[in-house]
Amino acid sequence: MPVSKKPVVKVSDKLKDLLNKAIARELQVSIQYMWQHLQVMGVKAVSVQDKFKSTAITEMKHAEKIA
Ligand SMILES: [Fe+2]
Repeated sequence: MPVSKKPVVKVSDKLKDLLNKAIARELQVSIQYMWQHLQVMGVKAVSVQDKFKSTAITEMKHAEKIA
């Protein structure tokens, strides 16, 4: 019996478009938070720098889950 190379699950173009947009959005905010992590300076930086970085990583994980 021949093995099919077609994907098992087919999704609509609309769903693929929405998922791609969601991934793009997660990556966009991830880059934004990582950039803020790198840019923050001064005394107040100590309190928020790590939070920006951890939030950026969290957003990356959201993108991975969607993918
Ligand atoms: Fe997110």
